[in-house]
Amino acid sequence: MSKYTFPKTFFWGTASSGPQTEGRFDGDGKGDSIWDYWYAKEPERFFNQVGPDKASYNYKLFKEDVQLMKATGHNSFRTSIQWSRLIPNGVGEVNPEAVTFYNNYIDELITNGIEPFINLYHFDMPMFLQEKGGWLNRETVDAYVTFAKTCFELFGDRVKYWFTHNEPIVPVEGGYLYDFHYPNEKNFKHAVQVGFNETLASALAIKAYHETQDGKIGIILNLTPSYPRDENNPEDVKAAQIADVFFNRSFLDPAIYGTFPKELIAIVKELDIVPKHTKTDLEIIKKNTIDLLGINYYQPRRIKVKENHAEANPQNPMPEDYFDNYDMPGKKMNPYRGWEIYEKGIYDIMINVRDNYGNIPCYISENGMGVEGEERYVNANGQIEDDYRIEFIKDHLRYLHQAIQEGANCLGYHMWTCMDNWSWTNAYKNRYGLIAVDLDKKGKRTIKKSGYFFKTLADKNGFED
Ligand code: GAL
Repeated sequence: MSKYTFPKTFFWGTASSGPQTEGRFDGDGKGDSIWDYWYAKEPERFFNQVGPDKASYNYKLFKEDVQLMKATGHNSFRTSIQWSRLIPNGVGEVNPEAVTFYNNYIDELITNGIEPFINLYHFDMPMFLQEKGGWLNRETVDAYVTFAKTCFELFGDRVKYWFTHNEPIVPVEGGYLYDFHYPNEKNFKHAVQVGFNETLASALAIKAYHETQDGKIGIILNLTPSYPRDENNPEDVKAAQIADVFFNRSFLDPAIYGTFPKELIAIVKELDIVPKHTKTDLEIIKKNTIDLLGINYYQPRRIKVKENHAEANPQNPMPEDYFDNYDMPGKKMNPYRGWEIYEKGIYDIMINVRDNYGNIPCYISENGMGVEGEERYVNANGQIEDDYRIEFIKDHLRYLHQAIQEGANCLGYHMWTCMDNWSWTNAYKNRYGLIAVDLDKKGKRTIKKSGYFFKTLADKNGFED
């Protein structure tokens, strides 16, 4: 029997976001985000045509949700403030209904012993700003900083853990390379500009935070360790390093060191797609780095040297011109999401942060498993017996524990997610929650078996097996 005990004061909890949970209700004063707009325009792009308007009814049910968080062992919980809820046009007037909602939600969490972690941007550009170019437009950076300052002023007395972005690479990929977020462009030059402006916005928000507040501020990155097909093939290794530069180091290096990887700079120069910037911007990025790193880990990336040149188009360069994805035979898959499950990746990330990023304080800010058709696991008492999720958690925690034993500075483990929630174009296809949500019954909640497991895990600060 092995015992896995985690450090004292370890953060146990889950993560979610405003746009994926809150919903939209009469009189709530929320403005449109790109999701509201895109769903109204092309509902068929969303699984079963379910949109962000209902989501998981958290705007109405947040008190009940906080009780369920307690029942599932949370000592901490992350959500995001929807920019288009707080400031309906992205700039200008603050929506009083939103202030009341977030105040009540935050107070409810704290009263119940749950530390709120608040993220500022979770893929949800206000439509008003998107019409003027969204992250492509420098004015959006200024508007974001005003939004960030407004949040710090309103909630910073109680919220002590802040994050500037969740997975800033995803709006780059989804909106400007691979067509899974609005505005559905495929334009590497724009992608690079969006990424740069997000990084600049993050640094400016960190600067504002440190000037006026006394908590911690960081960023949440989805780190996808890049493994070469063949470690002994230098070309595969080089291709994997380039993928790592594009998808991990593009945000990790500026967040921690305040600089961009030289390999990335060389590529954007070679392609003549250097983003518009000033010297002052670079100084701001250099000086304003994070206190705390949130790491979302779902899957690794398997890479081989570029073999398939057929799809490369010099008129329209793409990151994939520099490597091929490698479909490794025999890999363990989550067939619903189409993502590989590779538990040791969590260990490799931690060791990389320990050795190459100054062992900055970090925590696992998302890890989880989306499963379609979980109703088939409902038992006679109406509870979903998601043993696969419990195994998934334990399999990852063993490796996380090992990394901590070896000196990784990991402060906690948050699952994605608390209640089943709305996953963008996948809507409610795959369920990730410790708690089931019945959309046909106005969001009725039922704790899954994994929710009870999580409670014991948190209470014991670890597990045995
Ligand atoms: C993450 C993202 C979340 C959630 C999750 C599961 O990449 O941060 O918003 O959608 O994937 O799909």
